Amino acid sequence: MTQDEMKEEVAKSALTYVVEGSIVGVGTGSTANKFIDALATIKDTIKGTVASSEATAERLRGHGIPVFELNDALTQVKKLSVYIDGADEFDPQKNLTKGGGGALTREKIVAAGSEKFICIVDESKQVEFLGAFPLPIEVIPMAEALVMSIANNLGGNAQVRDGFTTDNGNIIIDVTGLTIKDARKLEDDLNEVPGVVTNGIFSHQGADIVLMATPNGVVTID
Ligand code: 5RP
Repeated sequence: MTQDEMKEEVAKSALTYVVEGSIVGVGTGSTANKFIDALATIKDTIKGTVASSEATAERLRGHGIPVFELNDALTQVKKLSVYIDGADEFDPQKNLTKGGGGALTREKIVAAGSEKFICIVDESKQVEFLGAFPLPIEVIPMAEALVMSIANNLGGNAQVRDGFTTDNGNIIIDVTGLTIKDARKLEDDLNEVPGVVTNGIFSHQGADIVLMATPNGVVTID
């Protein structure tokens, strides 16, 4: 089974977590795209969606699936029923690294506005400690030099993502070469740096359930 087929399998398996008649939070990336395509097959059973990026909103609309602004959705319901998204890495505590596609801030906001986060990955994303995948930090452009110097002191190597602007008009700094033993602390420490919008560690907004595709089927980790 190819990685692409595994992504498709795990995306389809997430449909069982979609709550009928509800508004569903939808993530960003190649696995989330497979989920959007699968969601299109049951689109008449949901009220609509909230998208974590412009790219996701466009794909949802392309399938004729209603997309609400989060602010509007949260006037109708206290929280979205579920948030379904991929990840770049997950550890045994279901902490995640996200933001490979640069949508980390909106992803974290929509995850925080949802009752449950179902993370859909293939087995290549499973790690003991986060950090093998570059850690993205979304930064207000004016703070680039400040955050670069702090990020370089973390023990890894920080680089501005070349030619990339987030949906919020900011830059991304990627930090490679970290072994993150206390994900919660690093998430908090980085978020306290002025100019950091958020970083790609999802510990506060970690997954409730990870659905992991393997060549032998989808494994549920809860
Ligand atoms: C985008 C993300 C994605 O969830 C993450 O990069 C995984 O993407 P893919 O499913 O393409 O491997 O955080 O910002």
